[in-house]
Amino acid sequence: MVEANAESLARLVTREIGKPYAEALGEVREIADTCDFFLGEGRRLYGQTVPSEMPDKQLFTFRNPVGVVGVITAGNFPVAVPSWYLVPALLCGNAVVWKPADYSPACGAALAELFVRGGGLPDGVLNLVMADGETTFAGLKQALGEGYIDKVGFTGSSAVGARIGELTGRHLQSACLELGGKNPMVVTPSAELDLAVEAALFSGFGTAGQRCTSLGTVIVHESIHDDFVARFDKATRQATVGDPFSDVVFGPMLDEKFAGRFGDYLEWIQPHHSVLGSTATGRITAANPREGFLGDPDAGVFCHPTIVDGVREDDAIFCNETFGPLVGVTTYRDLDEAIRLANAPGYGLSSAIYTTEPAEVFAFRRGISAGMVSVNNSTSGAEAHLPFGGNGKSGNGSRQSGVWVLDQFTRWQSMNWDYSGRLQKAQMDVTELTPDESFRLAD
Ligand code: UN1
Repeated sequence: MVEANAESLARLVTREIGKPYAEALGEVREIADTCDFFLGEGRRLYGQTVPSEMPDKQLFTFRNPVGVVGVITAGNFPVAVPSWYLVPALLCGNAVVWKPADYSPACGAALAELFVRGGGLPDGVLNLVMADGETTFAGLKQALGEGYIDKVGFTGSSAVGARIGELTGRHLQSACLELGGKNPMVVTPSAELDLAVEAALFSGFGTAGQRCTSLGTVIVHESIHDDFVARFDKATRQATVGDPFSDVVFGPMLDEKFAGRFGDYLEWIQPHHSVLGSTATGRITAANPREGFLGDPDAGVFCHPTIVDGVREDDAIFCNETFGPLVGVTTYRDLDEAIRLANAPGYGLSSAIYTTEPAEVFAFRRGISAGMVSVNNSTSGAEAHLPFGGNGKSGNGSRQSGVWVLDQFTRWQSMNWDYSGRLQKAQMDVTELTPDESFRLAD
């Protein structure tokens, strides 16, 4: 069903949020991958049969659906990320109430139609709600208070995630939270520099830097800093920005509000920074042009890609997610320092290291606080069957995708069945063996 509608859905994604068409097709592919994975998983919702500590008694485990799942998603992946919730939640036997982003309602309605009309879901199993953020929060509060919602899934900012975590906590629930990131990429002296540059370009500026997995800061070894920055600047200047139906690295911002916030982040640039990557900063307009721009800049909300070199550990640009086409660059002397800098902002979603030294890979993996680690690959582009999620300001430890998400949408139930015909008391009616502690083998 998803594949048969792939092109129309991808076109809608491009039209509504400005994601380049090739990337939008990839986003729809991610829904199909998620469906394919869980199609098989429906036959593998295994429980266990476990021996008892007593005779004539058997133990079992079962996965039960949680009930009604409330899902609130962002619009940067207006159909793929929702499918990470909807597909497993429905497969596990839950009903879902889904609130898409208020700037991607058409994509939300289309995906829901694919499930309900295309997939033939019975009435009331998947329900779509359109509302703005504050109305959604108030509705969620009321629904939790009245006991209508048993689980909340939320993808969005760390600030809103904290509010949702607090609210669900009051109802003794733990939400599935997929929040922001300040995703680092460490580039070591042994790195293949051109590969690292290609990855920095894709993960820093792809989707106009509006993925939760987008690159935040490149932490490059001081010995190769100048070379890396020169190449990164060149690649970024050459990158095509513009009409998302053409072959571009990135198109417009998701919505006017993100362009506004991006303007605020640009105010964090300070005199000790060097700004690279484009012919100007801020909005791309006829009056503030970008060389090589494809199409009419005034037909959408486009922003210049911006590399900020020379960021320091206490700079606002270093410490905070800057959702938009902005990448910071800083340097390190030894790997311990690189890891410390990579963890310093306190997020923990995705991370990357470019190296050809296995020892560095494992030291980085052990030291980094991120839930996801890429080796010689960019911070974005996670595959649909590995655990996806973060730590610190990026989430509360919940994981989506693959088998791991099943624990979000089911609760384990254990059952014991005694067929001995008497009351056997656990921990009491057990057979004790009497060891001879002085026993030794003869030499
Ligand atoms: C997000 O931005 O919320 O790993 C999710 C990636 C994508 C998903 C990003 N597959 O970049």
